[in-house]
Amino acid sequence: MSNNKRPEDMERITTPELAQKFIDEQIAALRAQIGDKKVILALSGGVDSSVTAALLIRAVGKQLTCVHVNHGLLRKGEPEQVVEVFRNQMDANLVYVDAVDRFLDKLAGVSEPEKKRKIIGAEFIRVFEEEARKLEGVGFLAQGTIYPDILESGPVKAHHNVGGLPEDLDFELVEPVKFLFKDEVRVVGSKLGLPDNMVFRQPFPGPGLGVRCIGAITRDRLEAVRESDAILREEFAKAGLEGKVWQYFTVVPDFKSTGVKDDKRTFEWPVIIRAVNTRDAMTATVEEVPYEILNKIVKRITTEVKGVNRVLYDLTPKPSATIEWE
Ligand code: XMP
Repeated sequence: MSNNKRPEDMERITTPELAQKFIDEQIAALRAQIGDKKVILALSGGVDSSVTAALLIRAVGKQLTCVHVNHGLLRKGEPEQVVEVFRNQMDANLVYVDAVDRFLDKLAGVSEPEKKRKIIGAEFIRVFEEEARKLEGVGFLAQGTIYPDILESGPVKAHHNVGGLPEDLDFELVEPVKFLFKDEVRVVGSKLGLPDNMVFRQPFPGPGLGVRCIGAITRDRLEAVRESDAILREEFAKAGLEGKVWQYFTVVPDFKSTGVKDDKRTFEWPVIIRAVNTRDAMTATVEEVPYEILNKIVKRITTEVKGVNRVLYDLTPKPSATIEWE
């Protein structure tokens, strides 16, 4: 039985010096646990799996294989950044799996939100399993489990484990950040040299943009979600809102409305902007984004994003609405 209780005397990691101490201790512990065996890790590019990967790279180098599954539901630039940071800068063993068509084919025509989540989760395990079977001598499965995942506090669903792998793949678990809270993981990530936009990233759901492309996912609407989200993030960063607003993103519903472009009538999708603040994701308030910034975003989305003629701002707190639209 692994111990899942944070030691009572464990100091909170709040400074780079304390992070360094944690990193040194973990490197020694990981080397002792892993020996000369191989480790595999599903690396999404989120804070927790990235910090876990960076620790393992320091500890056991190429004994670690990171598997990055691009399921087509990631934000613009994310798969490229994972490859750049881990393969090019950290010289890690990184298997990049382009599974975009596979996921989108499975999701075609599926409109029920929980069914979409199930398909994405199950397909993810299948792709990861296939990659794990291609490697020989793997003894360990690393996971970016953090303490709130263990405590199961709040509705931020844990998506760090690849639980559900078949029994014959009985890897021993390696979870170096399992006693850390998110703010501590971020301090450690910074000390490990991970880029700020990876370390201070807003929460992103496991099913990714899949739950922000409402109803049955189509490639063109998914592209509209991805492009509008990139514009929103860029403009929030320019306006100094990055790292201040808890979560912000765009949603594209599965209906159209009329508009006018170049003196011609259009019939296109709206983009909905959501920007909220919360402590624990159980309740949330809406960020009062200045009109000037919103206007700039509306102008860019309606001119730069294909198939979109209208932009809405979601003014609803949680409750009654949830943070996501699905
Ligand atoms: P809701 O929409 O329930 O979201 O108010 C609360 C927080 O949870 C995130 N969320 C998810 N995270 N898998 C995840 O890993 C999911 O299926 C999922 N659904 C919602 C959401 O982004 C917000 O931070």
